[in-house]
Amino acid sequence: MSFKVMVICAGRHGGNGEALAKEALCAVREAGGEVELINLFDYNILPCTGCEGCTMQMGKMGAGLQKEYHGCVLKNKDDVDAIIRELQTCQGVIFSVPTYDLTPSSVYTRFAQRFLAYELSFLLAIGAVKENPHTVAGLISVGGSMHDWQSLALESLQATMFTMSMTVVDRYMAQRDGRPGNTFVWGDDVEWGGQIARAHKMGENIVKAIRTPVDERCWLGDPDDGVCPNCHSSLVYPGDKHWDGVEFPWECAVCGAGGDIVTDERTGRPKLKIAENGLIRDRNDDHARAEHLNEINKTRDEFFAHMDEVKPLMEKYAKMTFPTLEIKRD
Ligand SMILES: Cc1cc2nc3c(=O)[nH]c(=O)nc-3n(C[C@H](O)[C@H](O)[C@H](O)COP(=O)(O)O)c2cc1C
Repeated sequence: MSFKVMVICAGRHGGNGEALAKEALCAVREAGGEVELINLFDYNILPCTGCEGCTMQMGKMGAGLQKEYHGCVLKNKDDVDAIIRELQTCQGVIFSVPTYDLTPSSVYTRFAQRFLAYELSFLLAIGAVKENPHTVAGLISVGGSMHDWQSLALESLQATMFTMSMTVVDRYMAQRDGRPGNTFVWGDDVEWGGQIARAHKMGENIVKAIRTPVDERCWLGDPDDGVCPNCHSSLVYPGDKHWDGVEFPWECAVCGAGGDIVTDERTGRPKLKIAENGLIRDRNDDHARAEHLNEINKTRDEFFAHMDEVKPLMEKYAKMTFPTLEIKRD
């Protein structure tokens, strides 16, 4: 079976993330896969304008009020559509992204926030994508510091995977990589070359997942990684009531799994014990995510039902002006 794996790198050319991603691709190539690497710095990526044109169209098509989906309003204005179309031809993707201010760098988030117009379950439903490619993903975050200064990095990367239904099978936080080339110095156990070896393993894991039947695919990363047994994120918070009243004592900030915090007997570390119904909001699950589209539509319906009150207020605030900063341009 032929397969293709793409790296999407948001790090410096010649930087640590690029080296790690290249090593992962070496493993893919050794296993007979086709490979490609793009660095987001080389592409024109406009920020999502927040127009909601994509989800408005999705809602209208769902309600039978629109026949054809035109996608994002920026579709022909930059390179995002071309990148995503290429990505849709791959069975595996590895994202390698530097950590800036605890989170993935803006070069990446600017790109990822354009995924909404490509919501896979929707594109499948309308036939714009013929077959679910069941894409598997590996995530690499690269920071100058350790976990304490990359605390939102992998989780924020994971949060960008749902929209296009990419299944994360491995994630790795490369730590203490400040200057380009730092990654060659150490691994997790301060073993020379350890990080590069781990990146190679990620490439192998991606190949292994691609070669595994979709229903049998599972987590291939470090088994004790994270607190949530569902997505392996380390971020779990005390839950609040959802829009429809659903509530869990603790929730995974990434996948939405709900349950209780317990101590893992084997490791002695905290773990989320998922409740019986704890996966009803699992954002990895297309059906559970479709429920979120219901939430969006319900919020929108309630909003439109209040138009009489809203319109004069919108006019009032639109007319309000304040001193601003003006930049003189020639
Ligand atoms: C604006 C900025 C903010 C940064 N913030 C963090 C941070 O919060 N945590 C961290 O571990 N490293 C931080 N770093 C260091 C980078 O993550 C590090 O240099 C990394 O190697 C960059 O990846 P690259 O070599 O692939 O470009 C920051 C770097 C910059 C330029």
